[in-house]
Amino acid sequence: MNVLVTGGAGFIGSNFVYHMLNKYPDYKVICVDVLTYAGNLSTLEDALKNPNFKFYKTDICDREAIYKIFEDEKPDVVVNFAAESHVDRSIENPEVFLKTNILGTQVMMDACRKYGNIRYHQVSTDEVYGDLPLDRPDLFFTETTPLHTSSPYSSSKAGADLLVMAYYRTYGLPVTISRCSNNYGPYHFPEKLIPLMIANALNDKPLPVYGEGLNVRDWLYVEDHCKAIDLIIHNGKIGEVYNVGGHNEMKNIDIVKLICAKLGKPESLITYVADRKGHDMRYAIDPTKIHNELGWLPETKFADGIDKTIEWYLNNKTWWETIISGEYMNYYEKMYGNR
Ligand code: NAD
Ligand code: TYD
Repeated sequence: MNVLVTGGAGFIGSNFVYHMLNKYPDYKVICVDVLTYAGNLSTLEDALKNPNFKFYKTDICDREAIYKIFEDEKPDVVVNFAAESHVDRSIENPEVFLKTNILGTQVMMDACRKYGNIRYHQVSTDEVYGDLPLDRPDLFFTETTPLHTSSPYSSSKAGADLLVMAYYRTYGLPVTISRCSNNYGPYHFPEKLIPLMIANALNDKPLPVYGEGLNVRDWLYVEDHCKAIDLIIHNGKIGEVYNVGGHNEMKNIDIVKLICAKLGKPESLITYVADRKGHDMRYAIDPTKIHNELGWLPETKFADGIDKTIEWYLNNKTWWETIISGEYMNYYEKMYGNR
């Protein structure tokens, strides 16, 4: 099987690339990533040594280039991770979010239609459901919860989801969508909560907590998300949405304090800063459907996942220090500039 993965040089996409190469040695994995600030080719260093892996530095909005890749690589399934993914950046500059997350999705689905009605999976987010109140712990997002977005990021992802369902209904494109809660684990870009706090704590820098730190996220170890997508592309029902989450709700402040404790750093590093505009209070997924239909269950408990993650950041300082220093931006030029 030829699996085309977009956004494979980012956090979840790269974990998925490794998951697929390791689990299916007879599959070919084709990665399309334009390497924005969030894409890092060094993350794929080991994959690049694998003859079953191919990398294209290409924008998913570049229709001509995407069509050429489909002609050359003949994918059997497309998994679209490529996106602008950071809420704070979307508040500063929404436009690129609309472009990549919606128009890029359109280009990928048009290519799927053009080259044989190819199976398409959209990696979406629980943020399309908006947020839940803190005082109603009985409420969870299900697949039928109405879309009700807060940020330009979540709106762009919801727009893409609507388009995906439109391509299913209008053109009969064989699609699925997964909506996952917050991921954590290796290769997480250090602008997001957990890796930012680990990196700052290790550098004895302030730990900027938005508002009072009471917002709740439902954290899932990235490998469990990859396994869910693997199940969906093989056994998922066409035209269906699957929520993915681990029933692991935590307040931001508790996560930051835990990281301080694990790294032996003082909580005095915690600095409360101005809240995010439109800040969602609580995300919480009900994963009953994917459990009942596909047998998926999260395997990594948060206590183990956070230890593995911290250990990974301790053992891979060069990876994130290079990113923080901005040097990684030159990496691609160095690796591929003269080829
Ligand atoms: P990320 O920001 O770490 O990686 C995104 C990748 O997409 C990068 O490698 C980037 O270079 C690439 N990319 C961006 N624009 C592109 C374009 N126009 N063409 C080609 N490549 C492009 O993001 P992530 O956290 O790995 O998220 C991956 C997907 O999963 C996104 O669609 C996101 O909405 C979704 N998601 C993320 C989370 C999470 O907790 N991180 C949770 C649920 C869903
Ligand atoms: P983030 O990792 O950006 O994920 P998302 O907003 O998509 O859930 O943020 C997770 C939570 O942590 C969110 O409630 C915002 C908060 N946060 C901080 O308090 N400080 C920070 O520096 C960052 C990046 C996030």
